[in-house]
Amino acid sequence: MVIYSLTLIQALRTAGHIVMLTGAGVSKESGIPTFREAQTGLWAQYDPTELATPQAFRRNPQLVWEWYQWRRSLVANADPNPGHFAIAQMETLIPAFTLITQNVDGLHQRAGSIQVIELHGSIQRTKCFEEETIVETWIEDGQIPPHCPHCGGLLRPDVVWFGENLPQEAIEAAYIAAETADVFFSVGTSGLVEPAASFPHIAHSRGALLVEVNPTETPLTVLADFVLTGASGEILPPLIEQTWPQKGAAR
Ligand code: APR
Repeated sequence: MVIYSLTLIQALRTAGHIVMLTGAGVSKESGIPTFREAQTGLWAQYDPTELATPQAFRRNPQLVWEWYQWRRSLVANADPNPGHFAIAQMETLIPAFTLITQNVDGLHQRAGSIQVIELHGSIQRTKCFEEETIVETWIEDGQIPPHCPHCGGLLRPDVVWFGENLPQEAIEAAYIAAETADVFFSVGTSGLVEPAASFPHIAHSRGALLVEVNPTETPLTVLADFVLTGASGEILPPLIEQTWPQKGAAR
C-alpha cells in the first residue's frame, strides 16, 4: 500500500475547509464512460461533444434524447465506487467540506455525499427546452422526446450543454468555496472545461494546498503541491484511512 506524505496528512488533519472538484474520472470505476474516450456499442459512431449541444438537439432531438436515455440506463445500472464513498466519508470528517462536481450522474449523492454543487446539472432531472422549467411528469405517448405538459415544447435533460451557461447559484457557490479552501483537491478531471478548470488556480492563488488525483497528467499537474497518480477509487480510501485512522474505516 502507498504511504502518503506526512505533510499532506497533517494538512488534511488541520484543514478547516477542504474543497474537492470532481470530474468524469471519479465515475470511471463505476463503468460510466467519460466524454473524451471512445464510445462503445451503439453509440460508437457519435462524438459526445457534438451530441451535447443545443444545436444538436435542434437538429435531431430524438437522437440526443435517446443518447441521454442510454446514459441514464448506464447510470441506473451502475453503483458508486470506493472513490465516491471515500469522498462522502471525508465530508463527515472535516469541519467544512465542499464538493463541486462536473458529473451529472448523481453517484456522489448515492454514495452519501450531502452537500454537492452540481455545476453541469443532473441527468436525473428533465426540463422544458423552451421554458427551461423543471418537469417532473409527462405523458408517454410514444413521442421522442416527450413534450412539456405545460407548453407543449420538447423535453430535454437538465444538464449544461456545450455553449450553455452554468447555473448561476452553483457557480457562485463554487467560486466562494475555491476562494476559502485550505486544501483543494482536483479529482478525475482533465481540467480542460471552464469555468471548473479555473477553480484550482483560484484556490492556489489564495494559498490553498493543491492536490491532484488522476492516473494521467493534466494541465494542473505542474501546479499541484501533491500529485497522487492513480484511480480515485484506489487513492482516496487509503488516504482517508491514514489521515484519520480512528474514524476513517475502509468501505
Ligand atoms: N480515477 C481518477 N481519474 C481518472 C480515472 C480514475 N479511475 N480514470 C480516468 N481518469 C481521469 C482521466 O485521466 C481524465 O483526466 O479523469 C479525467 C476525465 O476527463 P474528462 O473526460 O475530460 O472529464 P471531465 O474533466 O469531467 O470533463 C469536464 O466536459 O466532457 C464534458 O461536460 C462534460 O462534465 C464534463 C466536462
